[in-house]
Amino acid sequence: MPQLFETTSLGGMTLENRFVRSATWEGMAAEDGSCTAALVDITAELARGEIGLIISSHTFVSPEGRSSIGQLAGYDERFFDGLRQMVRAAHCHDSKIVLQLGHAGVRSPTLLTKQSAVGPSCQATAPGESARAMTLEEIDGLIRAFGDAAVRGKDAGFDGVQIHLAHGYLLSQFLSPYFNKRTDDYGGSVENRARIVLRILDQVRNSVGEGFPVLVKLNAEDFIDNGLTVEEMLQVSAMLEAAGIDGIELSGGTTDPAGDEHPVREGTPTTEAEEVYYRDHARQYKERIGVPLILVGGIRSYTVAEELIDSGLTDYVALCRPLIREPGLVARWKSGDTRPSECGSCAACLVPIRAGKGMYCVAARSA
Ligand SMILES: Cc1cc2nc3c(=O)[nH]c(=O)nc-3n(C[C@H](O)[C@H](O)[C@H](O)COP(=O)(O)O)c2cc1C
Ligand code: SF4
Repeated sequence: MPQLFETTSLGGMTLENRFVRSATWEGMAAEDGSCTAALVDITAELARGEIGLIISSHTFVSPEGRSSIGQLAGYDERFFDGLRQMVRAAHCHDSKIVLQLGHAGVRSPTLLTKQSAVGPSCQATAPGESARAMTLEEIDGLIRAFGDAAVRGKDAGFDGVQIHLAHGYLLSQFLSPYFNKRTDDYGGSVENRARIVLRILDQVRNSVGEGFPVLVKLNAEDFIDNGLTVEEMLQVSAMLEAAGIDGIELSGGTTDPAGDEHPVREGTPTTEAEEVYYRDHARQYKERIGVPLILVGGIRSYTVAEELIDSGLTDYVALCRPLIREPGLVARWKSGDTRPSECGSCAACLVPIRAGKGMYCVAARSA
């Protein structure tokens, strides 16, 4: 049996294979952030497609941290009845499911939240608008909000939680000198910038207890001037390791407050060699960090996924857009049809999501 399809244990969670559906905002939650039947159906389809682990889209842990329409809410118990259905859909087909917890920070649109955006520091956002720096009391409140959301997720049957530290959202903003200009205990050195993350991890761990997997998604680097560097990512990973994190997913790139994206790579990979966005970051991670690695970004071919696992470059292979294109991709590969994903990484699927029409593969529909 290929190592890709081995059963493994991640933080005590038994996974049927080494494929992970990376968190994907589908834009299909109800107006208030409740889970919908459409989201349950998507989860069931992914689980039928035999993904070992499904990571939910990012749920906002407090109302001012919402980033977008159609986003799942996790800040109140009333949202968890719907999320229980999602968990059942995953478990019916032997997939595990982890709840991603996040906060958009300075990227929370005031129009949507009806309150001013907050972040590590004051920051101009849209023309004429700015986010304000969080007070120490607000930081304490946020830490409790992550812990509370994690407990609700555990009670709803999720197999674990993932704290979103990537992509220029609030905790990524704290980690990044580009956003974080604080001069108190939460700014300056990398230890100070990581303080809020470590306090959240501690709160979540104390809230959910031992034996419940707690993962993070972290930027391999920010790809923005004065952003988080590779060396700092490694230092943060070492701090997370010392604090007992169960798994780290490496991603990358940042969206700045003006909405400009700073991805690792523009355009679409045309060769297998171009597929893995963070290959070199993963190599450096594996040299220094012992926590199981989930690698996401640009992986499109079975042969590449196999090589990543067999060479030990990563422990898990995560996919996002290929599973929008073809939710049954992993089952197809398992059946022996190992042709690559047809996803061309064009990112056009974000267009209908942002327009409030929900997620679908635009390229497939227009083919
Ligand atoms: C439509 C869409 C929605 C996404 N939503 C999330 C999200 O909710 N949380 C997150 O951490 N990343 C999110 N991402 C980023 C992906 O999880 C992934 O890191 C990125 O797309 C690279 O992987 P890929 O090349 O396999 O698509 C999203 C990406 C896309 C295209
Ligand atoms: S729209 Fe483009 S990026 Fe999105 S799933 Fe389809 S081919 Fe992939």
